[in-house]
Amino acid sequence: MFEKIEKAATFIKDRYKGNPKIGLILGSGLGVLADEVEQPVKIPYEDIPDFPVSTVEGHAGQLVLGDLNGNEVIAMQGRFHFYEGYDFSEVTFPVRVMKALGVETLIVTNAAGGVNEQFQPGDLMIITDHINNMGGNPLIGANDSRLGARFPDMSEAYSKKLIGLAKETATKLNLTIREGVYFGNPGPMYETPAEVKMIRLLGGDSVGMSTVPEVTVARHSGIEVLGISCISNLAAGMLDQPLSHDEVIETTEKVRSEFLRFVKALVAAL
Ligand code: HPA
Repeated sequence: MFEKIEKAATFIKDRYKGNPKIGLILGSGLGVLADEVEQPVKIPYEDIPDFPVSTVEGHAGQLVLGDLNGNEVIAMQGRFHFYEGYDFSEVTFPVRVMKALGVETLIVTNAAGGVNEQFQPGDLMIITDHINNMGGNPLIGANDSRLGARFPDMSEAYSKKLIGLAKETATKLNLTIREGVYFGNPGPMYETPAEVKMIRLLGGDSVGMSTVPEVTVARHSGIEVLGISCISNLAAGMLDQPLSHDEVIETTEKVRSEFLRFVKALVAAL
């Protein structure tokens, strides 16, 4: 794996001469942020050696490298999900490569269901912590100590310093922002109402199908993480209506400009 990471990183370094310290993972409907990167170098995932190969129709996505609000970034426009059939080491390979390229801070975003009864669709939530219910994690197996510790500390999976910075930034922008715990499920089906009740009892405020593996690997590699959920819907059973992916996308589109403003300001504040 170490050699594969190095090979992918070298391939990217040959195409982009900068030195990005900030990584961005853009969730469903939030990939537009990468379109705001100036002088972008775009590298389709399928071109990068040992990047996961798309199993589904259409574009898996691309890396976008360049300047965002005066800071160099490397953005994933589209991510790999466990439910698509990738294993956890594939889902998190891009984070390993970011580390090899010198990334120190990762901003990870997702669309998620609201579990906290105070939340409304369209809210933005700073992730303060997560609960892994995905049925596995990317660190199982032999540990390569060049990549990180055998038993990594997860007491600050999401950096307290960055959470503070995000709150300050939201205040400056006059944005109402929520805070809470992200509960990671494997998907692809949405939850049952009974599961949503359980998640709430267990301390989850939002629920989704990503993020947990990437953050696990980021922490294993010593990258500091800031997480943001875009609450695209209230979770199953909270309203008397079925959930649909269309609803998730529609709401995400509505808060997109607010989300863009927030993340751009965050990048500038880092
Ligand atoms: N559940 C799980 N994942 C999601 C949801 C949800 O309600 N909304 C967006 N992603």
